Amino acid sequence: MSRAARRVLFVSSEVAPFSKTGGLADISAALPRALAAEGCELRVLTPRYGFINREQHGIRNCDGATGLRADFRGRSLRFGFSRAPRTGDVETYFVECDPLYDRPGLYVDPFTNGDYIDNDYRFILLSRAALQLCRVTDWEPDVIHCNDWQSALAAFLVSRKRGAGAFARTRTLLTIHNIAYHGLFGPESVNRIGDGAERFYFPGGPLEFYGHVNFLKAGLEFADMLNTVSPTYAREIQSSYEYGYGLEAVLHARGDSVAGILNGLDTDAWNPATDAHLAATYDANALENKERNKLALCARMGLSYDASVPLFGSVSRIAGQKGFEILIPVLSDIFHLPARMVLLGSGDPHLEHVFHEFARLYPDRFAVRIGYDEGLAHLIEAGADIFLMPSKYEPCGLNQMMSMRYGTLPVVRATGGLADTVVDAADAAGGTGFSFREYRPDALLQTVRRAVKTFRDRERWMALQRNAMAQDFSWAQSARRYRELYDQCLRNPPRVVA
Ligand code: ADP
Ligand code: GLC
Repeated sequence: MSRAARRVLFVSSEVAPFSKTGGLADISAALPRALAAEGCELRVLTPRYGFINREQHGIRNCDGATGLRADFRGRSLRFGFSRAPRTGDVETYFVECDPLYDRPGLYVDPFTNGDYIDNDYRFILLSRAALQLCRVTDWEPDVIHCNDWQSALAAFLVSRKRGAGAFARTRTLLTIHNIAYHGLFGPESVNRIGDGAERFYFPGGPLEFYGHVNFLKAGLEFADMLNTVSPTYAREIQSSYEYGYGLEAVLHARGDSVAGILNGLDTDAWNPATDAHLAATYDANALENKERNKLALCARMGLSYDASVPLFGSVSRIAGQKGFEILIPVLSDIFHLPARMVLLGSGDPHLEHVFHEFARLYPDRFAVRIGYDEGLAHLIEAGADIFLMPSKYEPCGLNQMMSMRYGTLPVVRATGGLADTVVDAADAAGGTGFSFREYRPDALLQTVRRAVKTFRDRERWMALQRNAMAQDFSWAQSARRYRELYDQCLRNPPRVVA
């Protein structure tokens, strides 16, 4: 069956290599490319934060799309659009608005460690800009694909414009990458949204959440379709407060329309056979070269190298989600196994401090780097023996997939995408890592012990490494599923919220 080429506007608050705090940026770079390969016409829209250098990326203003005005009731801002040189079949557009985006952080002010107080303006503009871009370039997309709270309001705005006769053919899809981040603002924010948002702000209404305006909830209510990034997370967020963060009932009410589609990896950027960040490249038939990365990683982190002692690695946002509260109580036990560990991450200043203290107490066992370092992230994936990811919740998770591809066996809590991608070593069909269910330090420690014991059995370990490395984490299959979701959106009548 021949299929119509879909026009898709993919809106995201972070897109690698321009801006990144986590996996959303990776997805926003890789999925549009994979969708273009599926025959879709893709435009990506994201803010041009001040740290995105126009010259370095060859970014140019779009003709006739500058000097636009956004009114926020009482505040009026000039904005415009610029564009990066086309890469492959994907066009990347930026919203230009220095008063809102010329900042060193994406969402959090590095000087105060708190959210920017005008994040409502910043991301209302992103959503409004999505609709404006279509207008000023006279391009009517089939689907506006929103991602997380930062672009969720585009679904609300499209729904309102439809009532006024525009965007009649356009459908909206909202992908939930992390339901814990709502985009919550004081009631006064509702006046800034525009398009009659006030009418939907009342207790229990589609924009209201316990006396606040909730951008994500607005998207969950108004988007024509919803999905999230793994089948298990799709079930979890509908099942309990623990996972749904208060939005479970909203999702549940939409029932079967929440699909779970696993993220893929950029298998070119994350390929141990070609990775330029490694001390030595390797594949499943040359695992001895992986060991040279362990040596290089130990040297770089100031740990002594011992082939017989397993090296644990972690690359992570240092946030509650990632399970540090069950890891910290058993860290000293882990160091006595014996084992060594390296950690790269940044986030919660209190936890960063705790890790610095551990590094001081166990200088021969543990090394930490606080900050963001792409090259080191690759070297850890290659040089560690075991990757730790004991997440409290994990919508999909990319690091466990990167680890498996690099023959670094993950120890994960079986939640969300971790449950969907890691097969426990005890599985008769062939394991790819180690997993546990209970969110408790003792459950984690027991699993770490099991991994360390298995590590001593070289034959068995290498068999598990080969299983892990043989997994297919490419985008092709998931991109096809997104394409099917788009088709499904377009077959259905638009969603109407009274
Ligand atoms: P999340 O999006 O919840 O942070 P994912 O596993 O989906 O988790 O994606 C995390 C991405 O961010 C990966 O590409 C990972 O390598 C990268 N990353 C996280 N922290 C750092 C860091 N400090 N330095 C380099 N890369 C990092
Ligand atoms: C979020 C999630 C992570 C997921 C990423 C991309 O940041 O925390 O699990 O992989 O989004 O979807």
